[in-house]
Amino acid sequence: MSTPSVAVIVVAAGSGTRLGRPEPKAFVPLGDGTLLSHAVRGVLGMREPVQLVVVVPAERVDQTRAELLASADASAELVVVVAGGELRQDSVAAGLAQLAPEIGVVLVHDAARALTPSLLFDEVAAAVRTRGHGVVPGLPVVDTVKRVADGRVVETVDRAELAAVQTPQGFPRGALERAYRLAGGEFTDDAALAAAAGVQVDVVPGDVRAFKITVPADLRRAEQLVAEAGAGAEASVREGGSAAQPHADDAEPSILPPEPVAEPRVLVPRVGTGVDVHAFADDDTPLWLAGLEWPGERGLAGHSDGDAASHAICDALLAAAGLGDVGRIFGTADPELDGAHGEVFLRETVRRVREAGFVVGNVSVQLVGNRPKLAPRREEAEALLSRFVGAPVSVSATTSDGLGFTGRGEGVAAIATALLLPA
Ligand code: CTP
Ligand code: MG
Repeated sequence: MSTPSVAVIVVAAGSGTRLGRPEPKAFVPLGDGTLLSHAVRGVLGMREPVQLVVVVPAERVDQTRAELLASADASAELVVVVAGGELRQDSVAAGLAQLAPEIGVVLVHDAARALTPSLLFDEVAAAVRTRGHGVVPGLPVVDTVKRVADGRVVETVDRAELAAVQTPQGFPRGALERAYRLAGGEFTDDAALAAAAGVQVDVVPGDVRAFKITVPADLRRAEQLVAEAGAGAEASVREGGSAAQPHADDAEPSILPPEPVAEPRVLVPRVGTGVDVHAFADDDTPLWLAGLEWPGERGLAGHSDGDAASHAICDALLAAAGLGDVGRIFGTADPELDGAHGEVFLRETVRRVREAGFVVGNVSVQLVGNRPKLAPRREEAEALLSRFVGAPVSVSATTSDGLGFTGRGEGVAAIATALLLPA
């Protein structure tokens, strides 16, 4: 296995006062494990190998280490378990002291955000690498927010300026270590502590599943989500997945004739292709491509944000599912889609593809054009698009050797292929 350059510190040393359970919050049962085991599963599902640093109450260190090492996914040299401190920030500091020398990017994650998908960790790590400063996931605030003093509304805060921030929060190692050395006072998250030390922190799209389990109602919501996910997996096993067959070594010897074995279901994959082209705009429209904004680059014209890569992926997915194309589903007349970003199109497309009975296997998209240069942000684009699609998306790019409209720098083309499997 290659040496990891990313570490994830999972802080799990809190007592969980607001949850009101006898055991520390991270050790409260959830589905087939605990909050902590679910959080660890999310980390170990990342695309790259990571150093995992788990911070727990002192009296739980030995138990946690033994349990983690007994699980197949975690290897001894990449897992460290240490005791936390009184404040969350003391626990993070205890984790930071354990980083292996080769670690360049550090993600800090609350065990209480137990159901955070692996793709969010991948995306934050990729964004820290390409941007070189702090990155936190955040969701738009949907409620109207008031500033209140002595029970009276003082003002309504413009919610367009607000984000509800989650974890994992990622930083270049040096910047976070320096911020922790400088930290005076108490901070509720690492972004605030880093910002106080002058570290730039960017927000990337968060994920509803990364919600924090704080009070009993949150735990019930998590239980429900885990049960729903489990019911889905059981249904596919009943339909003839290999997990339905008992392992020969586990089977009791029997004098009865063997049970008839169900024929494995033949899964026929389906592929689709999509192409999209947008011309560069003449005005100062910002460039959006492959789900990302590209500051300083010339923008693409279009009714939406002109993200040819996202649109080509939608067409490939729809074609593979036999659902038509982007134009048929979204229509250029829809005022709601004026300036809409790729995420909107991709999420709705994937919803329809799933509704039609498919899961996305993978997607590949190639950009054709002189600019922007993809290489420095390829990883970031792949992680972001993978999360929107819920499956691996690879992004590549080429120029067209000076030929045609892409060679003359008049616009950008994108060509995508999608593979679907019956659900
Ligand atoms: N945490 C920690 N060390 C602390 C306090 C908190 O490692 N001294 C961790 C928690 O285990 C949790 C995360 O930080 O995963 C976020 O904190 P929070 O949700 O507030 O958890 P608790 O502090 O355990 O809960 P409460 O505030 O209700 O007591
Ligand atoms: Mg707390």
